[in-house]
Amino acid sequence: MAETLTATSEDIAVELTPSKASPKPGKLFIGGEFVDALSGKTFETRNPATGAVITDIAEAGTEDVELAVRAARKAFEDGSPWRKMSPRDRSRALWKLAELIRQNADELSELETLDTGKPIFESSKFDIPQAAECFEYYAGWPTKIAGETIANTAGGEALVYTLREPIGVCGQIIPWNFPLQMLSWKVAPALACGNTIVLKPAEQTPLTALRFAELTLEAGIPAGVFNVVTGFGPTTGAAMVSNPGIDKIAFTGSVEVGKEIMRTAAGTLKRVSLELGGKSPNVVFADADLETAAKYALGGIFFNQGEMCTAGSRIFVEEAGYDAFMSVLRSRAQKMVAGDPLHPKTRLGALISEEHLNRVLNYVAVGKEEGANVAIGGTRIGSKGYFMKPTVLEGVTNQMRVAQEEIFGPVASVIKFKDIEEGIREANNSQFGLAAAIWTRDVKKAHNVAKRIKAGTVWINTISTTDNAVPFGGYKASGFGRELGRAAIDLYTETKSVWVDLNQ
Ligand code: NAI
Ligand code: MG
Repeated sequence: MAETLTATSEDIAVELTPSKASPKPGKLFIGGEFVDALSGKTFETRNPATGAVITDIAEAGTEDVELAVRAARKAFEDGSPWRKMSPRDRSRALWKLAELIRQNADELSELETLDTGKPIFESSKFDIPQAAECFEYYAGWPTKIAGETIANTAGGEALVYTLREPIGVCGQIIPWNFPLQMLSWKVAPALACGNTIVLKPAEQTPLTALRFAELTLEAGIPAGVFNVVTGFGPTTGAAMVSNPGIDKIAFTGSVEVGKEIMRTAAGTLKRVSLELGGKSPNVVFADADLETAAKYALGGIFFNQGEMCTAGSRIFVEEAGYDAFMSVLRSRAQKMVAGDPLHPKTRLGALISEEHLNRVLNYVAVGKEEGANVAIGGTRIGSKGYFMKPTVLEGVTNQMRVAQEEIFGPVASVIKFKDIEEGIREANNSQFGLAAAIWTRDVKKAHNVAKRIKAGTVWINTISTTDNAVPFGGYKASGFGRELGRAAIDLYTETKSVWVDLNQ
């Protein structure tokens, strides 16, 4: 990843590359059909590279959510085509979906880049292929989900076995940073387990979810199994969370909304899983390969403009290695320039919105006030689109707001530490616990530190990688529940124990 972070142009291209993708006018996808919102209301989705409106999107209200829930419930009932579909055929349908994502990869990549502002390089090499791989991975699961037979410890003649059953209607609420990939992490395992879905993409990035909806029909997923309601969080999203017909909510987004979802979901005792972001420490020991560590540190914070839940946004550097590490980091960061997201050579795109850009820029000001030094970047680029210079703050202490709050943009906070104990203590000194990276050549130290870091993922001598087979999720305020791998099968099934009395 680090090797790809090279400069392309000195300024943002004035003439942005024209787009070939033709976004569909916004409709909701309910019961296998594209329909208008009952209110007729729409909202705009914008291209962050220009600020221009891409298209209008339907805004789902409470009644539309109710219709989607009913469609999903009907598709879940006994006797429905989905419930009658064998695990083998469900498996084939998921594989077919992956094939369709691959066949339409160019269009999906372009839609993703138009909607998010991320480089087409990332959409086409990362987001879209990874979404396809996620469906391929979970296509293998329907035929392997099984219960157990359990010894009856109290004695007596009884047979006890467990069944793994789908939960029912799953409400899935996803963010704007990796739209199709986040969709795949939630939709693929839920379908593999036999659930039905009402999905709400982020209001900023609904385009690929709507295109994906068409693909579900082509793949032979029965009508009503997968539904999309587009709209805003406090209205459409909140209507999902309070709807009694939804059995489970899976959410990825901010801590604040995660808490709100838990509170509301308590009313109907929905199952809840939350992935809430982080302030991940990237801990560089002086004995590490410092050049490689510095290169990867850039990928860890600047990939996807830093709009990543796992962003290695707190870079802890051991004092003895500080100068060597920072000279590589500074010189490479200096060369990174944001550019036209649709240009194939661009490696740094636009931030999601003007509001978000201002929020990130404000954190730079906050850092300065707190006494941090802006070593690189720190400012907006131009006035067209929402571009920002990659930013490195030095002289940061772990108590500062820029070290404790999730910035979710291209801003790295660099913090010095003295020794291993201080490194571990400060890395753990955070409300979050999503991920962490450790750089050292000492095998014992690496594993010892990995064990003591409170995070759902620890990378040793690498950063930011995920795999569909590997569980992903957070400790502490980063949420709970593990997505991906076998763990997601637990997230999307209920366990039923069946007792058979064998006494005469
Ligand atoms: P957000 O948490 O408001 O939005 C995420 C999703 O939740 C969107 O689909 C949104 O429509 C929905 N939502 C919002 N309010 C809701 C509610 N009351 N009930 C149900 N659904 C609701 O995040 P936002 O405002 O887009 O970004 C703010 C900050 O959150 C970011 O700067 C970042 O720090 C963090 N964030 C973390 C993400 C992660 O990957 N963990 C992803 C996006 C944002
Ligand atoms: Mg919001």
